[in-house]
Amino acid sequence: MAKKIINEPSRTLMEYRLLPGYTTDETSIDKISLETTLAWTPEGEQELKLNIPVVSAAMQSVSGVEMGIELARLGGLAFIFCSQTIENEAAMIRDIKSYKAGFVDPFYVHPDMLIGDVFEISKSKGFNTFPVVDVNHKLLGILTKNDYSGTHHAHLKVSERMIPREQLVVGVNISDIKEANKLLRESHQSVLPIVNEEDQLKNLVFRKDVRNHMNYPLELLDDRKRLLTGAAVNTHDYRERVPALEEAGADILTVDSSDGFSIYQKQALEWISANYSHLPVIGGNIITGKGFRFLVDCGARAVKVGMGGGSICITQEQKGTGRGLASAIIDVVNERNRYFEETGKYIPVVADGGIVDSKDVTIALALGADYVMMGRYFARMEESPTEKIQLSNRIMKPYWGEGSARAREWKSARYYQMKFVEGVEGFVQYAGKLRDNLPETLSKIKASMSSCGVTTIREFHEQAELEIVSALSIREGKVHDIYMPNDSSDYKSDKY
Ligand code: IMP
Repeated sequence: MAKKIINEPSRTLMEYRLLPGYTTDETSIDKISLETTLAWTPEGEQELKLNIPVVSAAMQSVSGVEMGIELARLGGLAFIFCSQTIENEAAMIRDIKSYKAGFVDPFYVHPDMLIGDVFEISKSKGFNTFPVVDVNHKLLGILTKNDYSGTHHAHLKVSERMIPREQLVVGVNISDIKEANKLLRESHQSVLPIVNEEDQLKNLVFRKDVRNHMNYPLELLDDRKRLLTGAAVNTHDYRERVPALEEAGADILTVDSSDGFSIYQKQALEWISANYSHLPVIGGNIITGKGFRFLVDCGARAVKVGMGGGSICITQEQKGTGRGLASAIIDVVNERNRYFEETGKYIPVVADGGIVDSKDVTIALALGADYVMMGRYFARMEESPTEKIQLSNRIMKPYWGEGSARAREWKSARYYQMKFVEGVEGFVQYAGKLRDNLPETLSKIKASMSSCGVTTIREFHEQAELEIVSALSIREGKVHDIYMPNDSSDYKSDKY
């Protein structure tokens, strides 16, 4: 006889619906904040927040440099995958941390070069604006497309056509795009060179990029104005991987494991907490209150919940372990709240695996999750690190699980004692750019919160009223019994 048998069925997010609360002017969509706690922060340290409650999964087919940059610019965060060499993962983190929105690493020229040669560079590289520097990298001037003709001035030197340094407005040691914008606004230039106190060229800021930057008001930045990024670590090589990731600038770690209730996770969390206490770490994945307590006692500063629900996951089929995500969140959130009452420490809960669309995110948040991790949702975007392919008449992107044979190819079998796979490989329909998709998803979440009469995620936790729905109610809640030709519909689901 088993030690425990729960006879209530385990519930998924799609089995719940929200009952609306009282909506007022104070809970209109423009008043709603999706800000949320990323990890518990010890007293006296700067609080770690997300500006939107979504992070991308630490998976090869989801979270690379482009995703890391674009998602952080939109207010969320990517977790760079650890199923690659330590050097590669650290390099990805470094690329994200060194990205400065609007600050371009310039291709420069020297004053004695011929305009004809610069024109050739312009044609091959596609650049039109060239800062001019001397051998010590000091700024001497700038050459823009308005300053020369590739044919008429071909025989002249750059110094004869450039706008000299004395006539330029430059920024000295500026790293804040808003400051750069102020200078650009007062100048007549379309580009602002940034120099150090020795007048050596550092970056260029283009007027068009500043305008573009203003479209990202939720950008998630550290105190040095760099984008925030997360990194995954495994339970095998963390002693070497964590120092490299910390050095590269990772802001938060997650221990990547399909079953976090283990001695291996305990060893990893305790080692990280003891040696890198300033670097918050998410533990997981677990699906019970007991699992939550275990991870927090080992040093986890946020806990990831979910097992068996991921779109590419076959854990339940292979091992028979798992739980509906809603039931797992409810159990863990109850324990989190008890822990908070006992200790005053608020440990964020991250819902992970099987979250398909905005409605699922909303239900997960209402049940008490602080943010969600998604793989499939982000794999469909332009910024995921895979190539688009055409399959019959659809544009698709490949998507595969970290437990699939494909993901495991990177490392020897030493890491994988298991003789079977826990994930599959398939395709998802290409959805376009993240900034053309995510804002719509977020506005649907805000609309639900507005209907429920709340303006913050914490209020949502306290005030949400949910009900289990029958299979027939779910059917009734979808489009039914009408003919809807595809091309006459402006209804776009974020499902596929
Ligand atoms: P999705 O958002 O439904 O696609 O689920 C993504 C989540 O599935 C990840 O964040 C992981 O927790 C989990 N996952 C990733 N790879 C595998 C796998 O190969 N097997 C089982 N679960 C996986």
